[in-house]
Amino acid sequence: MNREEAFKLLKKYNKEEYHIKHALMVESIMRYYASLHGYDEEFWGIAGLLHDLDYEMYPDEHCIKVREILEENGASEELIHAVCSHGYNICTDVKPEHYMEKVLYACDELTGIIASLISMRPSHNAQGMETSTLKKKFKDKTFARGCSRDIIKNGVEMLECELTELFENAIKAIEKDEEFILKELQRI
Ligand SMILES: [Fe+2]
Repeated sequence: MNREEAFKLLKKYNKEEYHIKHALMVESIMRYYASLHGYDEEFWGIAGLLHDLDYEMYPDEHCIKVREILEENGASEELIHAVCSHGYNICTDVKPEHYMEKVLYACDELTGIIASLISMRPSHNAQGMETSTLKKKFKDKTFARGCSRDIIKNGVEMLECELTELFENAIKAIEKDEEFILKELQRI
């Protein structure tokens, strides 16, 4: 499955712009991390793009139904495992094992905080966003309250890095891909 096929599949199962935007943001962070560590950017990006594929149509079978959908569409076991593992201890017992899976697990909820932060900035974009601002909003439990801080902390523990490093990389990724994300949203 290439990136274009993955995007088509995403659009087939997700009609809410909010969900597609979230998928594109996670894709961006995954690609950025892959580039930092010399991994396959397209493959990591696809895992990000498709991680919530089943959530809109099958919320009660999230991270379960997706296996069937991905299998039908010829996805590799590597991709399926990565997608399923992002719901570890929430809706599945598939544990993130590979570095890619840990990044996916860690950045998923964080994109919600970043998206909320973007929407309240006067510029309505991520350019020049300070890590310290994101840190402050992370600590403020009333801000983007639906985004689990515990999951992000667990992810950082899995990655054996500091929260700051994850925040910095996530901001850099979104700043870099922001225009691309907006362009992709025009294709839905
Ligand atoms: Fe997600």
